[in-house]
This record gives sequence, C-alpha cells and structure tokens, in this order.
Amino acid sequence: MTAREPIDKQQAWRALSQHADAMREVHLKDLFQERDGRHERYTRRAAGMMLDLSKQRWREETLDMLLDLARAADVPAAIGRLLSGERVNRSEDRPALHTALRLPADARLEVDGEDVVPGVHRTLDHMATMVAKFHAGQWRGATGRAITDVVNLGVGGSDLGPLMVTHALADYRPRDMHPVEVHFASTMDGSQLADYLTRLNPETTLFVISSKSFTTIDTLSNARTARDWLFSHLADGDDVDGLVMRQHFIGVSASPEKMSEWGIADNNQLEFWEWVGGRYSLWGAIGLPIALAVGMENFQALLAGAHAMDRHFATAELADNLPVLLALAGIWNVNFLDIRAHSILPYDGRLEYFASYLEQLEMESNGKSVTNDGRSIDYSTCPVLWGQLGPNAQHAFYQLLHQGTQPVECDFIAPIRRYDRVEDEATRKHLKAQHRLTLANCFAQSRVLMLGDDAIEDDGPRPSHKRYRGNQPSTTLLLDRLTPETLGALVALYEHKVFVQATIWDINPFDQWGVELGKKIATQTEQILTTHEGVESLDDSSRGLIETVWRESEY
Ligand code: F6P
Repeated sequence: MTAREPIDKQQAWRALSQHADAMREVHLKDLFQERDGRHERYTRRAAGMMLDLSKQRWREETLDMLLDLARAADVPAAIGRLLSGERVNRSEDRPALHTALRLPADARLEVDGEDVVPGVHRTLDHMATMVAKFHAGQWRGATGRAITDVVNLGVGGSDLGPLMVTHALADYRPRDMHPVEVHFASTMDGSQLADYLTRLNPETTLFVISSKSFTTIDTLSNARTARDWLFSHLADGDDVDGLVMRQHFIGVSASPEKMSEWGIADNNQLEFWEWVGGRYSLWGAIGLPIALAVGMENFQALLAGAHAMDRHFATAELADNLPVLLALAGIWNVNFLDIRAHSILPYDGRLEYFASYLEQLEMESNGKSVTNDGRSIDYSTCPVLWGQLGPNAQHAFYQLLHQGTQPVECDFIAPIRRYDRVEDEATRKHLKAQHRLTLANCFAQSRVLMLGDDAIEDDGPRPSHKRYRGNQPSTTLLLDRLTPETLGALVALYEHKVFVQATIWDINPFDQWGVELGKKIATQTEQILTTHEGVESLDDSSRGLIETVWRESEY
C-alpha cells in the first residue's frame, strides 16, 4: 500500500468544509420544513433493521459530498481488502478476519495459502461438544456433581462482547436442559470474583479463562484466586489438583502454549487466531459463555445475522450501505460540524451493556492520532462515545443533551416488536403496553432534541431556563425484533462502521498501542509499592499517593 494524500487535503474534504460553513447555520427544523418525505429519503433497510438518518443535520448534497469523500478514500477497495483477508492491520502485519468467524462451512477464505474456514468450524464443533455436555448435566466437577455455574474470567474484548450478548439474548435461554448460569468477572481488584466466591459452590462451579494473549494481568490474577479457591475447597484425595484443572477450567486463547503452561487440559482449550482482534472476537471461542447461556443453535443464528450484514456491507452500493452511511453521518458530525460527543441510547433493557461494548469497539479502535504510515493527524478522529439505557439516561444525563452547551450526536436503538413470546395473556398485554410507552419516549426524545421548543404547540412565552434550542442530530435504528440474528447484524453494523471511518481517517482500527505504556508503568509501580524501593524516582503526586498507602495500610 502506498502512502495516501492526507484526506483533509483532498478536494472532497475541502468541498465538505466549505459546505459545512453554510450548514452550521441551518437548524434541523428548517431542514424538515424544506421538503417533505425526509424520513423515507434518508431511511435504508437491511438484515432485519431500519436505519433512519433523517434527523442528521444534512441535505442531499451533503450526503453526495460525503459519498465522494468515501470514494476518495477508496472505501469500496478497503472493504474488499478487509473481507478477503489482506493484512489490513498494518502495525501488527496481519489480517483482521472477524468476518471469517461467521462464514458458513461451505465458504472458502485463503490466508497465506491456507483456507481458514475449516479451522473456524472445527472450533465451533468443539464448542458445540462442550455446550452439549454442560446442557446434558454431564460436565462434572471434581466431586462428581454436575456443573451449574460458569464464571467467565476475562476483560475488554474477552468480557464485554459475551457479557453484552448473553444479557441481550436472555429470552433465548434453552428450556428443558440442565441449567447452567453464566457469570462474568473482569475487574483486576477481584471485587466481582470475590462476590461469586461467597455465593457459588466450588463443587459445581467452572471457570472459563478468556484471554487472547493469556498474559493479561487482570484476568490471570482472577484466575489464580479462582484456582486457589477451588484447590482449598476441593483438595482431598489423589490427584485432586489435576482433577480440578481438568473439570473446573476451560481456557480460550490464541496461545495454546500459554494455556498449557497455566495447566489448562488440552481438551479444554479453545483456540482462536492472532488475526481476530480482541474487541472483534465474540464470534468464535470467546463466545463460549454466549453459547452456554443460549445454546449453540442461537449462537449460530447470531453468526448468521452478522454474516447477513457482512454480505450487505460487501455488496450494497455505498449510497444504500448501512455501515457506510452510519460512518458518514459520524464523519459529518465530528469533522465538519465539530460535534465530538456521541451517545448510544438503546430503548430496550436487554441492551444494557451495548453502550459499554461500543465504547471499547469504537474508542479502542479509532481513538488514534497517527495515520497508517505514521503521520500525525490534524483532524478529529473518534468522538467521545458513551451511553446508557435511554429510558434511564432520561433521568440522568439527558438534561445535558437538551440544555447543556455540548453538541452531541445520539443513536437511538429499539426493537419494533417485543414480548410476543410471553405466554400469560394479561402479562403480555401489560408488557406490550410498557414497550409502547418506551417507543413513545424514544421517538419523543429524538424529536425534542431535533426541534427544541418547536416540538410543542406554542403555549406562550417561557423563561429562558425552560427553553430548548434543539438541533441535536440523531440516528434511529429500529430492529424488527431483538433476536440472535438481528443482534448479530447490529454488532456487525457497528464493526463495519468503525472500519469505514478508520479508512477515511487513514488510521488502523485493529491495534491498540495506546494501552501498552499504562500496563508497563503499572508493573513498575506495583514493584515500588511492594518493595518500597525506587519511590524517590517518581513525580511528587505519585510519590505522595504511594507514601499515603504505605502509612495507612499494610502495604
Ligand atoms: O488492554 C487492552 C486489551 O488488549 C484489549 O484490546 C483486549 O480486549 C483486552 O486487553 C484483553 O486482552 P486479552 O484478551 O489478551 O486478555
């Protein structure tokens, strides 16, 4: 790949900058008055969802110019390179093939002369065998009792994806099977794990150690604590330690050697590949907790939904391509309207962890400031992105969205249909009414954010503290239903959005060098805290904090 002319020096970017000077003065309410049919003009459908971009502060000429920008950055060729397994992760010299994890068994995809699809499906088959054994009550602990609780020990991509999906698909837990509860412990301070250790029975608890690198200190600290807990509660008799390792631990990693060194039995190792980024990894072995919670069939449906979005991404015209359009809306806001905060607001309690998941996906991928060939960037890249369940956020930070000084782009996400499967008729009726109420709130909020005071019939003059200026842009994503398929497609939509933005910004969304220095310094700091040596080399603030801990605790 040759160095590209900086995107902000290209004609397409300059044209957008000029256009933005005029558009900054235009209020969203005026755009809606200019022409009818805005909703239909800016809405696209694919893979069980509808993307409504009509509340973005743009006109058709804006979108045309943004599409020119995507062409100038050669987005179609970049999509081809991503999906065909080229080494798009340049700083680590490898492909980024999360899409290969959801290819059907009869597909082929060669990387370095080898078809990766059979390996992907071997892992899925291995997962299926494990899941079947748990669900049949045949995975037994060291004392012979069936495992009932599985705790996933992982952090970042080895936690957030499975946590988010397991929660989102809670309605899909298989019935009539040996029940297995799935739990998640990620924090290095051990507080989540400590809570499980007081509540769970060691005889019936199994730990999945999920770590692509199998070196992450957060996860390995939790794993050590878990291992000691099991040894101290179950160690009695010959080879109990060996039995505990075989019956109470599964490892998921790209490093089988490190899993073996740690003592994970060969049969209990699920592998994935260096070419799957941590935050893109829920589709393979890292998804084991999902498959345990909702069954292998639903896990396969999740993959099928993501694959449907991959096909759409690969084949749809740019102007109809959901990930491309979502990416362009973000670029328009961040780079041309100077809107550098982005809130993710699902109106469905099952998507409780979706915003946290996207925080890692978007900010760890695109929080970058050098281009692929090492040049410093002087335009904005990833905005600050955060979120919360919309209905709860209405009672928390929406005040800032409505009357604060920050412009914020919002994504509203909701299913159209909900609670169809609730058996009891009266309960179903009430819950459906609650869903209707939730949709009403979702649509009301995006409307008020758009129109401000104009959302309401004029009810006379109001003091300034009761006024709403509106003009906050938003996107609304409606899923037909929240199913394994549509959830898979939704996550893939955001993965590809991130890729398109990275392509335009000319950054690598698949590395995360920015987190390395912190890890290194933490290791040195722990050394100082433990040995009491070297504190004088630190800055005054860090020294003061460490000395306070020494004075006031047993460290
Ligand atoms: O520190 C950041 C990070 O490397 C993430 O990218 C990753 O998802 C997380 O840590 C966990 O890494 P691992 O799966 O190797 O334990």
